[in-house]
Formats: sequence, structure tokens, C-alpha cells
Amino acid sequence: MHLKKQHINRRSFVGKSVKAATLLSIAPTFALAATKQPEKKLKLVLVGTGIRGVHSWGIDLVEPYSDYVEMVGLCDSNKKRVEVAKEMIGTNAKTYHSSKFDLMLREQKPDFVIVTTTDNVHVDYIVRAMELGCNVISEKPIATDELQCQRILEAEKKSGKKIYVGFNVRYMNESIEMKKIIGAGEIGKIISIEYQEYLNTDHGASYFRRWHGKTKYSGSLFVHKSSHHFDLINWILDADPVEVRAMGALAFYGANKKFAGKNCRNCNFTNSCEFYWDITKKSMLKKLYVDCETIDNYYRDGCVWDAKIDSPDSGSVLVQYDNGTQLNYSLNAYLPYEGQKISFSGDKGRLDVRLYYNQPWLDHTKIEFRLTKNRKTTKNWEIFPDRGNHSGADNKIKDDFFKPGQKFFFKQRAGSRAGVLSSLIGIAALKSIKTGNSVKIKDLIKL
Ligand SMILES: NC(=O)c1ccc[n+]([C@@H]2O[C@H](COP(=O)([O-])OP(=O)(O)OC[C@H]3O[C@@H](n4cnc5c(N)ncnc54)[C@H](O)[C@@H]3O)[C@@H](O)[C@H]2O)c1
Repeated sequence: MHLKKQHINRRSFVGKSVKAATLLSIAPTFALAATKQPEKKLKLVLVGTGIRGVHSWGIDLVEPYSDYVEMVGLCDSNKKRVEVAKEMIGTNAKTYHSSKFDLMLREQKPDFVIVTTTDNVHVDYIVRAMELGCNVISEKPIATDELQCQRILEAEKKSGKKIYVGFNVRYMNESIEMKKIIGAGEIGKIISIEYQEYLNTDHGASYFRRWHGKTKYSGSLFVHKSSHHFDLINWILDADPVEVRAMGALAFYGANKKFAGKNCRNCNFTNSCEFYWDITKKSMLKKLYVDCETIDNYYRDGCVWDAKIDSPDSGSVLVQYDNGTQLNYSLNAYLPYEGQKISFSGDKGRLDVRLYYNQPWLDHTKIEFRLTKNRKTTKNWEIFPDRGNHSGADNKIKDDFFKPGQKFFFKQRAGSRAGVLSSLIGIAALKSIKTGNSVKIKDLIKL
């Protein structure tokens, strides 16, 4: 096969893809409020006032979106943290202990409940909020086991309320670029996908310092972290997963070292452990976690060698889709660099995408695309992330939810089905790792 190498201007090539994709694109989605200036602001309450709640759905929402929304209640199981959060966000919202969640909804009558607790209890707040007549925006993953998934679907159906999931990855530039190219049929029918997720010993380790490394709280990294990636592929393909097989291991963190402490500040190995981290140097984290830990013993600088850690830190997942596509996914959380490598192979060509961020050899983030048509040309170009948290996606998702007149043409706003299917792939993967058997999605849940 002779491939003609061609470096083209990204704009001219993508311009063509955009035109093609726009023709195929589905109906635009609009802000929850309205398509013009809302007559009244949406009333919001937030449950789970940790860093995600305080930052993305607090500081970055309450003031910047004050023309459209009003935060009227904050709730957490840690009575100190909820007060610290209120001060950090700079809101007059009333604070509640989690045992008073129902009271908060009855008193504040919010339009939306935003759920940013630990993953394992999302379900309790999602279901109760809908039972009490509220719509919900939940952080991913929507659920950590299949029974939770079923409860959420049934509660949504019974209540007539709506749940949306915070899949900010769908709003990233590279995600939209992939969706456009695949949707436009540039490489034909997608036969297989290779997806490699690289997490380094900084970002990757951060999961194992906290509850994320324990499956009873997170469902494992295949649910907590990979649900983003599984959702991305489900969304790009517009197809449903039907069967999952996986292998994985906790090969680096957890009991893989002979020593362990309770947390970094109270550890005898601070001089010798290369994972020693002083949380007190970050004043926001100190206020939000260290100063509140007497209430619930939540140590955010937990030991990465804790023997109770049980989530795999490395593994591979195979997913069969109902349209015939096979996904070959891997995650490794202990690498010297970060990033992703995603390749789509179709019957007319191949799309290779390489994301470089937090690279020791590169001081900026870039995303390389290469599109190769069978027996024809190969073209490569680079794109760059937008400014802002999570490559600008954290603001775009809020624009989609709350700002009137916004147009997101690729159905980025994810509902319960997308939330459930992405979680179920991770849930099935963990089952497959434990049993050695493949798992059919239809055996886990009635959709
Ligand atoms: N979309 C994204 O990019 C993204 C990024 C970060 C986190 N997240 C998600 O946001 C959520 C929160 O993550 P985080 O990093 O802020 O975690 P965190 O541990 O810092 O915060 C969780 C908060 O929930 C509270 N909580 C725990 N159990 C509770 C209960 N039963 N009732 C009420 N409150 C309870 C804790 O006290 C804590 O304040 C997670 O679901 C995570 O997956 C999403």
C-alpha cells in the first residue's frame, strides 16, 4: 500500500469535515432554562461540598452564572466542610447536614439538585431528589453498581423528573473533533477501537490517596475514572455496549509496598517514601479537608500503600457493541507521563488521536490527529485545548445547562441512559476481573 504523506492546514481539513458533519448533525440542544433570557433564575442546591462541588459547581458557577442561577442550599455529611464551602463559594445559601437533605428540598424548593458526593452515594440523593419532585445534575459516575443503576432508571420513570450526568469530556475540543470525523463517515464503518489511558504517579496516585482507590466508594477506577472514557466511545459510536471482558490487577499501589502509614502527615516514612505529599502547603485543601477531618476522619492525604486499597491500577477491558464495533481499552495509573492514545479503525481508514498533557518533555497540552484513508492519503494536524478547567469543558457544560441561547450540536448533554451504560461497562469489567468470565450487560440490568 502506498500512502501519500501530506501535512495539511488543520483548518482547511477540519473545515471540510465540519461541513459534512454539520449536515449529519442532530438537532441542537438548548439551555435548560430557555433559549432567551430566563424570566426567573433557576434555583439550585448542591449536595457534597468537596473540591468538585466547591470549585466547578460552586465558585465557578454561583458568581459567573448569577444572571441565570441562584444557589439556595448547600449540604454535606461533614458539618464543618459545608460551612467552609459556603465561605469559599461566597454564597448566602443555607447550609444543611446530609441528614436534613429532605428538609433542604422542602424549604428551598430547588429546580435542580447538583450531586457531587462520593460516587457510592450519588444514587441516594439522585433518587430522593426525584421522589421529592426535583430534577438532578449528578457528577459521573451516576452509580457504582448495577442495583443502583436500576434504582435510578426506575425512579426517573416513576417521578417523571430528569437526571443529567456531568460528562464534561463530551465538551472538549478533541472529543467533538473525533465525533465529527466518525459521524461524517470519513473512515467508514468502525470495526474496532484501541483506547489507552495513561495516568502518572502524580495524578494517578491522587486517586489512591483518597476514597477513589476503594471499590466500595468508587466502584473501582474502571467506574470512577473510565466511565468518562466509556461514555466518550458510547457517545461517538451512538451504540450500546452488550458484552464486557476484562483482566486487571492492583499491581503498583495498595499493599505492594512493605511499609504504609495512615496518612502522609502522620507517617514514619516521610523521608524515604517518594509519594510523600504535604497537603498543608495547599491552603484551600487544608481548609476544606485537614481542618474538617476531626468530624469524619476523611484524610485526603491518605497512604497510597494502604492495604485496604482494592481497585485495580492497571487493566484491559474488551467491549462488544451492538453495532459490531469492538473496543480494546486499557488503563494504567502509575506511569511516568500522562495522556491518551485513541485509534478508530474503519472499513475505509483509520483515525489516530494522541493527547499529550502533563508530559515531562512538553510544556503545553496538544492533541495530534492523523487521518489515513485506505490506499489514499494520510493527513495530520494538531488541535489545542481551550482555556479553563478540564480544557474549558467545565465552563461549556455549565453554559449548556444554564446559559440561554447556547447551541451544542452533538447532543453533549447526557441523560440517565448514558450515565448508566458508561457505569455498567466499568461495573461489568470489575465483575469479569473477579470471576474470569465475560459479562453481558443485559444480565445486569433491564434498560
Ligand atoms: N467530571 C469531572 O471531571 C469530575 C472531576 C472531579 C470529581 N468529579 C466527581 O465529583 C464527585 C466529588 O468529587 P470530589 O473530588 O469533590 O470528592 P471529595 O471527596 O472531595 O468530596 C466529596 C464530598 O461528599 C461528602 N460526602 C460523603 N458522603 C456523603 C453523604 N453520604 N452525604 C453527603 N455528603 C457526603 C464528603 O464529605 C465530601 O465533602 C465525585 O463523584 C467525582 O467522581 C468529577
